[in-house]
Amino acid sequence: MGIECQIHSTSAFHRHFGVLARRPSAMHEGGMDPVRKARRRRSVLYVPAVNEKALAKLATLDCDAAIIDLEDAIAPDDKDRAREAMRRFFSARPDTGPDLVIRINPLASEWGLADLDAARACRPRAILLPKVDTPRQLLDLDDALDEADAAGRLHVWAMIETPRAMLNIGAIAELGRDRAARLACLVAGTNDLVKETGIAATSDRRWLVPWLLQIVLAARAGGLDALDGVMNDFRDAEGFAAECAAARAMGFDGKTLIHPSQIEPANRIFSPSGDEIAEAEAIVTAFALPGNEGRGVISLDGRMVERLHLDMARRVLARAGREFSSGGR
Ligand code: COA
Ligand code: MG
Repeated sequence: MGIECQIHSTSAFHRHFGVLARRPSAMHEGGMDPVRKARRRRSVLYVPAVNEKALAKLATLDCDAAIIDLEDAIAPDDKDRAREAMRRFFSARPDTGPDLVIRINPLASEWGLADLDAARACRPRAILLPKVDTPRQLLDLDDALDEADAAGRLHVWAMIETPRAMLNIGAIAELGRDRAARLACLVAGTNDLVKETGIAATSDRRWLVPWLLQIVLAARAGGLDALDGVMNDFRDAEGFAAECAAARAMGFDGKTLIHPSQIEPANRIFSPSGDEIAEAEAIVTAFALPGNEGRGVISLDGRMVERLHLDMARRVLARAGREFSSGGR
């Protein structure tokens, strides 16, 4: 873990708990949080909190998670109404349906603290913080959650959508290694990145790709999930499939979505294909054969297969849903 982050994160705890009160096993160098990794994130649908009809529809949708939005999808004059609609929705939340995440406004904005209070009371799976520039802002959110004695299981997701976030991405992702910081997922905010930098928004996203790859790399370094940004033109099914395929090839776990029609293709494209599953099963089976269990490298159908391929095969099977709980909270 970077020294700077360690100091920030530790001092955040000192302020509230003192040195010895730091949560046990808060640091998990190299290891994944098993709760966090036990969730698929292929399709993550934004729903504006004021849209009660869309909220009601969520229980019938097959997305892996939904982000109830209080930020950019809500006009300034509607912020109070959005919070109220969100409260009503959560108070009658169905037992089934996608994992629920709430996107609040930045804490420094005029709506941030009211959003945070309302979001915490709704007990979502995670709170998504937009316009994150520095690790400090995520630690401030963590402090606010701790002060209010939020359940330790409440995760934080971070929008990566500003030039400063791109420059600080390594330090932000390092928080993934400190369980106390609650950070579980980086979400690419591609519309804001285009707006803030002035790059051209081409259909092949050629100018965005370097930053998207940085987000995936940082997420892997921090043991975090990574979600691609949205595609605005929700009627372009062919373009959407191509964008999902590119995102998957870049290593993203899934895509953020704006419309229900995008769920099925995202689920399909971010799931391993039949061929990939068969290949992964063959590798797992080969390493399990008598005499192969302890070997570092084996031969399979004329190819060299190492234990790193066994790890990759297990990951494919996990992504296929073999080790995942499906839906629910
Ligand atoms: N979540 C859940 N349901 C949604 C939905 C969403 N994001 N977007 C649309 N729907 C529902 C509609 O309510 C409608 O339901 P119905 O068939 O029961 O009437 C159905 O899907 C078809 O919707 P459609 O008429 O094609 O779209 P629309 O014109 O109602 O909405 C948008 C288009 C873009 C305004 C809407 O999809 C939306 O608000 N998306 C999210 C935007 C957002 O959150 N942006 C911020 C993050 S980038
Ligand atoms: Mg944004």
